[in-house]
Amino acid sequence: MRITMVGTGYVGLVTGTCFANLGNEVTCLDVDPVKIDKLKAGISPIYEPGLDEMIARNVKAGRLHFTVDKAAAYASAEIIFLCVGTPSDARGHADLKYVLAASGDIGDAIEAAGGETGGDPGERRAKIIVVKSTVPVGTNAKVREAIAAKTGKPFRMASNPEFLKEGAAITDFMKPDRVVVGVDDEHGTGGRMRDLYEPFVRNGHPIYVMDIPSAEMVKYAANAMLATKISFINEIAALCEAYGSNVDEVWRGMTSDARIGNKFLYPGLGYGGSCFPKDTLACVSMGSESATPTPLLQAVHDVNQRQREDFFAKIVKHFGGESNLRGKAFGVWGLAFKPGTDDVREAPAVTLIEKLLAAGATVKAHDPVAHETARELLGDRITYCDRPMDTARDADALLICTDWPEFKQPPLERLRETLAAPVIFDGRNLYKPAVMEEAGFTYVSVGRRA
Ligand code: UGA
Repeated sequence: MRITMVGTGYVGLVTGTCFANLGNEVTCLDVDPVKIDKLKAGISPIYEPGLDEMIARNVKAGRLHFTVDKAAAYASAEIIFLCVGTPSDARGHADLKYVLAASGDIGDAIEAAGGETGGDPGERRAKIIVVKSTVPVGTNAKVREAIAAKTGKPFRMASNPEFLKEGAAITDFMKPDRVVVGVDDEHGTGGRMRDLYEPFVRNGHPIYVMDIPSAEMVKYAANAMLATKISFINEIAALCEAYGSNVDEVWRGMTSDARIGNKFLYPGLGYGGSCFPKDTLACVSMGSESATPTPLLQAVHDVNQRQREDFFAKIVKHFGGESNLRGKAFGVWGLAFKPGTDDVREAPAVTLIEKLLAAGATVKAHDPVAHETARELLGDRITYCDRPMDTARDADALLICTDWPEFKQPPLERLRETLAAPVIFDGRNLYKPAVMEEAGFTYVSVGRRA
């Protein structure tokens, strides 16, 4: 099929590249000429394992193209995926300006080039405009209106939420747990979307075709559920600390109940990234706009915010007051919001580092891939170290913010000798408290006795 992806951010780039990899003819469109030039030269703007190679292979094979030429990109496409950003304001409202601007351009292109595009001779088919960006329920209808305002020629709409995890996006896309598609006409548009995704679900996983408002809601419901699990276990971890329980044991005891399951129930510094914080707030915002209170999801958000505050409070307590942080040196392991990505959006590390700096402490940090992205937020206010051990040199404490695998088995003796004081604040529960105590550390983690 001939596919155009609008927006070469995380979703557009991964999705477009994976479609091309199965033989589709894919054009990725973006308004940023610098980004497009880099992509043409095979340089990906994001870090995602396996993506660079896949882009290079498909560009070389002539199936994956990058352009800033809107009219050409829209004219040739059978299916157009809207993957532009939907930033949210402080109250959680998704800003649809990019989605609606692209919709207007698509309307113009359909009007100029004709609304129908080739299929088999004799069978002419309307373009399908697919909303893939995570957008509030009802946005597809607004996109339809914006296109229809520009043209009376036929086109079809679909909602196709994505469930990619950063760091595992290619596997998630190539072997999805499920594909969700919302359409108005199950057989026409639904059938064509099924054809597109059929090669990806040969593992037997389902393609669910449903109405558009339900498909739009699935994404929010799924992310809100996952965020709820994380805030839930973090709240239980706080209770564990208050009552001398160990959250690891509580986790084992409760997750062996198959109804509960053991996924996404790891306590820590709370969720970050570009999805859970934004989508949870967007649900709350949809609730207030429709006079449908969502106190549970508001609490999920509040608990997540509090998680960072509470962890910082543990650092302050150890040093006997915030004023005592002045002049202290901290090593930090991990800047990205989770392993496998260089994304530092809403990363707990950034929040904690900002608090340390504001209190007058100094910070040396190491992350396997996120120095450049972190520098955009933190500049040269911290020192970036190539090796984890260099952050610990003469530090008054080590702070662990991301559960990168390479932090899981450090040489403990060398670490203790390198630190000025053998103190570790572990926001990801990487080590066993008893082992750390035995190794001579003051070890503070989440939901476990020190
Ligand atoms: C999330 C969802 O998992 C994807 O299904 C979804 O497609 C995506 O959002 C999206 O909406 O685009 P992602 O943000 O890449 O994916 O990251 P996750 O792997 O889900 O982790 C999110 C955060 O939760 C991280 O900060 C992680 O450290 C934290 N987390 C996760 C915990 O604190 N505890 C857990 O048990 C699991």
